[in-house]
Amino acid sequence: MPKPFVSSIIVAAGSGSRMNAGVNKQYLYLSGKPVLAHTLLIFEKCELIDEVILVIGKKDIEVCTKEVIKPYKIKKVKFLVEGGDTRQESMYLGLKKVNPKAHIVVTHDGARPLIHQSTLLRCIEGTFEYKATIVAVPVKDTIKIVDDDLTVKSTPNRSTLWSVQTPQTFEYNLLKKAHEKAIEDEFVGTDDAMLVERLDHPIKVIKGNYDNIKITTPEDLIIAESIIKIIPR
Ligand code: CTP
Ligand code: MG
Repeated sequence: MPKPFVSSIIVAAGSGSRMNAGVNKQYLYLSGKPVLAHTLLIFEKCELIDEVILVIGKKDIEVCTKEVIKPYKIKKVKFLVEGGDTRQESMYLGLKKVNPKAHIVVTHDGARPLIHQSTLLRCIEGTFEYKATIVAVPVKDTIKIVDDDLTVKSTPNRSTLWSVQTPQTFEYNLLKKAHEKAIEDEFVGTDDAMLVERLDHPIKVIKGNYDNIKITTPEDLIIAESIIKIIPR
């Protein structure tokens, strides 16, 4: 059987408001390279991935080309796509550029540069079997449901709670259908799996690593500097 065509969409078009760095957080330096260069190099090296659709902010086209794509010789990026107002919209704009022969689409945050190559592979391989696969870790803290007035409403059983990361990997047709249904219903979710859940399609969880953090607030960059020294590449 020929290898299925695997596309990937990396979203990097957010404003990074919680980082508050003045520039998009994806172009901040981590261990001598822009955050986004780390992310793209992991996809570049992954032998199962055939193409990358990179979704970025309009104002970042020059910085992305000059500081990331060219110096790190990124070859798999087929399209630079201008992002939208929400992560979901950015993802859908990327999805429209995926090669129609794709069997599987990997979705990933540009702001997660610490994903292990082995986890990315396990996530894709899981999709060959389960059609929808997400990377997650069991939560370490006790989680509370809290009312608007900051009073505790309830405490879900911790053993059932997982903190969800990216990559999230889906059969192309399933992801497309999920996004189109969300648009039709004017539903906005915070990850792609939420849209697939609305189709009542089962989703398999791949246990990942706690170190696959999303660069969100300034201390994340400090933590990432330590993690990057020890993760396998
Ligand atoms: N993202 C995107 N388009 C948007 C919003 C987010 O492509 N309109 C991307 C971000 O660039 C990031 C990923 O989705 O790689 C996860 O989002 P998040 O960490 O929330 O990034 P930002 O939205 O940029 O940050 P903030 O929420 O603090 O403004
Ligand atoms: Mg955001």
